[in-house]
Amino acid sequence: MTAIPIIIDCDPGIDDAIALLTAFVSPELEILGITPVCGNQPLERTVRNALQVCELGGRTDIPVYAGCFRPMFREPIYGQFHGKNGLGNTTLPEPIKTAESKSAVDFLIETLSAAGNEGKRITICCLGPMTNLAVALRMKPQIAEGIERVVMMGGAYREPGNRTMTSEFNVLADPHAAHVVFSSGVQIVALALDATHQVMLKPEHVAQFSEVSGRISETLAELMAFWDRNDVRRYGSRGGPLHDPLVIAYLLAPGLFKTQRARVFVEHESELCMGQTIADWYGKSGLEPNADIVTRVDAEGVIEFFLERLSRYAEKAVA
Ligand code: RIB
Ligand code: CA
Repeated sequence: MTAIPIIIDCDPGIDDAIALLTAFVSPELEILGITPVCGNQPLERTVRNALQVCELGGRTDIPVYAGCFRPMFREPIYGQFHGKNGLGNTTLPEPIKTAESKSAVDFLIETLSAAGNEGKRITICCLGPMTNLAVALRMKPQIAEGIERVVMMGGAYREPGNRTMTSEFNVLADPHAAHVVFSSGVQIVALALDATHQVMLKPEHVAQFSEVSGRISETLAELMAFWDRNDVRRYGSRGGPLHDPLVIAYLLAPGLFKTQRARVFVEHESELCMGQTIADWYGKSGLEPNADIVTRVDAEGVIEFFLERLSRYAEKAVA
């Protein structure tokens, strides 16, 4: 079986870290690079957090390329639920590994151009604001030929926003970038709040995830300790939505997800609805659909999926 070549664009971030740790033990994925961006935390911190998670997961072989220092036009807004250092105040050691000297944008342009020229196509997993990919597409639109699809966490269609009334954090943090990506012609799988709010990481799951995850269990428990929103009125249960990890679960277990195609638009002019993602489900715009929006998730199946993957950190390293 040929591994799926992917690039993980992210803003670690507790849920980004869980997504990365899951991808690290999934040989079905060939991780070509990690491209942190300004999002939950300033760039310096998301880069550092990505390096630390690579070391935690034993994957210092994966290159990390620092991305955009700030959104395309708007002031950074940063995340609210990830602790002061963005990783739930875990006390991970200073990373030994350093980021590559090449920027994330140059890495994306070079890698996607080469793939396109060789008839290959790479899947881009976007777990944060899409600034890096948008800037790369603006600099060289032809890189779209090297993109299989963008599987992104972000947006809210039939759900209210989680940062404003209408808008989800990743898209709100850089709505212009989201507009560029959704208008670029690349095919997108959208894991929005409509999907992620169906999978709550509850306190009992935190205990299970920690219990099975061997050598990373203590740090994983510290990471996830921050994740309980304790907002039963909003989410219908204790816990927090498992946002970014669903991108990796979608790639590896697509049967757990149902999608509906639509043309997606991103509001990037109105302050009231800034960052709102609007789905044209029935072709009213006359434009071709550009996204598969995940509408249903087998939540139990997804939790089982993560338990099995994270349990791989308990197994003896394969010699
Ligand atoms: O709205 C959820 C998204 O915002 C997730 O990617 C989380 O990490 C934050 O970046
Ligand atoms: Ca994120």
